[in-house]
Amino acid sequence: METNEVATQSEFASTNLRQLADLPAPKGLPFLGNALQIKGHRLHQQFEQWSREYGSYFRVKIGARKLLIVADHQAFAKILRDRPDGFSRTVKLAETWREMGLQVGLFGANGEVWKRQRRMVMAGFDPAHVKAYFPAMCKVTDRLESRWKKSIGTEIDLQADLMRFTVDTITGLAFGHDVNTLESGDDVIQRHLDKIFPAVFKRNLAVFKYWKYFRLPSDRELERSVAEVNVAIEGFVKQARERIKQVPTLRENPTNLLEAMINAADLGDSGLNDTDVAGNVLTMLLAGEDTTANSIAWLLELLWKNPAALQQLQEEVRGKFALDTPYSTENLNELDYLDACINEAMRLKPVAPLLPLQATKDTVIGDIHIPTGTIVFGLFRRDSVDDNFIPNAAQFDPQRWLSNGETGQAINSVKRISMPFGAGPRICPGRYLALLEMKIAMVMLLTRFDIDNISTPNGQDAEEHLAFTMAPLGLKMRLKLRN
Ligand code: HEM
Repeated sequence: METNEVATQSEFASTNLRQLADLPAPKGLPFLGNALQIKGHRLHQQFEQWSREYGSYFRVKIGARKLLIVADHQAFAKILRDRPDGFSRTVKLAETWREMGLQVGLFGANGEVWKRQRRMVMAGFDPAHVKAYFPAMCKVTDRLESRWKKSIGTEIDLQADLMRFTVDTITGLAFGHDVNTLESGDDVIQRHLDKIFPAVFKRNLAVFKYWKYFRLPSDRELERSVAEVNVAIEGFVKQARERIKQVPTLRENPTNLLEAMINAADLGDSGLNDTDVAGNVLTMLLAGEDTTANSIAWLLELLWKNPAALQQLQEEVRGKFALDTPYSTENLNELDYLDACINEAMRLKPVAPLLPLQATKDTVIGDIHIPTGTIVFGLFRRDSVDDNFIPNAAQFDPQRWLSNGETGQAINSVKRISMPFGAGPRICPGRYLALLEMKIAMVMLLTRFDIDNISTPNGQDAEEHLAFTMAPLGLKMRLKLRN
């Protein structure tokens, strides 16, 4: 059998396989295992470092939980493709959501429910529908432009402003609700979500579920936030149903994701109801806010540190867009160098640097027997920054996404190794929307402004902080109006 092949039951029965217990593992403590060696917000870096010491496959123990870490990109890609049959999201993820009082949407769902929800969500991301949502995205981009014009000469908290941009965009698209945090500065639902999303990450990783026995004030606050968000989402679903009743053309031409998902759920054989719709509204917000904002922030930091690339990007963008050129999905998708810069930034700074999955049946990865139920953490960024796979891998070099050489091999291999949106049947359904958002924000920035400075308070590269997604810490940006 070839290495990295996912084998069938009969195949692995007859082969000489390594068992999980045969794999190397960093030394830990009794009961706690490696828990004390891992800081939640540096989990990915710790796993990446261990993968350099222990190789492509190793074990980690966090309390009672035993994990298999897979750093080899080919093996990980095969696992990602072996879904939903061979691997699923972890059972614990859905449990954590339910225990917090949240509906499980597409990200946490498994089995038949996932299949049905995936169809519904994909209907919402149909390109014709995304085109209909696009004017709302332009409106939010104009607001970001106004906000940044008012901030000329001052230090902009980059990540916070980009979060406002993605929150306003996704909330507009997901609910059809104009929250406008860019102009009003605050939004009640968003304030609750800001408590909920980090809690999902923290509770999912916790060694001891203390909140089952006693609740801290922060847990009570969390419960209140969950209750309020659930009521708000229920209200949005009701309002959207009412709109569809009043304006039947919204069945054919939905103006936001929520309407599109309701329409898909209402198809006779969908097997879905308003609870599934509500769970997915929340999922869109969770999956679509930090991911896109952090990806833009990392891209900007990398461009600032690589002035030749920034210069080339400015030339491309300013050559195609005059100040009065209206944004369109077509003209944004004609920017090849911007596309390359985005891909290159996501290779070096994937905002989801690891992904936990669970084996749904006995299987084989590489030469290792994986028993049913094994939790596997795949690492997206071991091979994608390794010179053995990508020449000058540490270098921010957008050109590598453009120059095909004689055979087109170079670009194809980097595409296979860097998988910032995942792969296989559960690949990120929001990826085109996210790329569009990244492009429109970059075009606005580069046509209206010159970047004066991007830095962190200590002058070092921004620190990677993992809390559901990998955020850059402390990035400030100063802008000048373009002459
Ligand atoms: C730069 C931005 C983004 C990045 C890097 C990103 C990355 C990812 C990754 C790595 C996954 C897991 C894929 C897998 O299991 O193979 C995922 C799943 C998902 N993403 Fe994204 N994402 C982004 C933006 C968005 C946006 C804007 C939305 C929606 C508005 C979204 C919605 C989802 C959903 C619903 C899933 C779960 C899919 C499933 O399990 O079937 N994402 N994303």
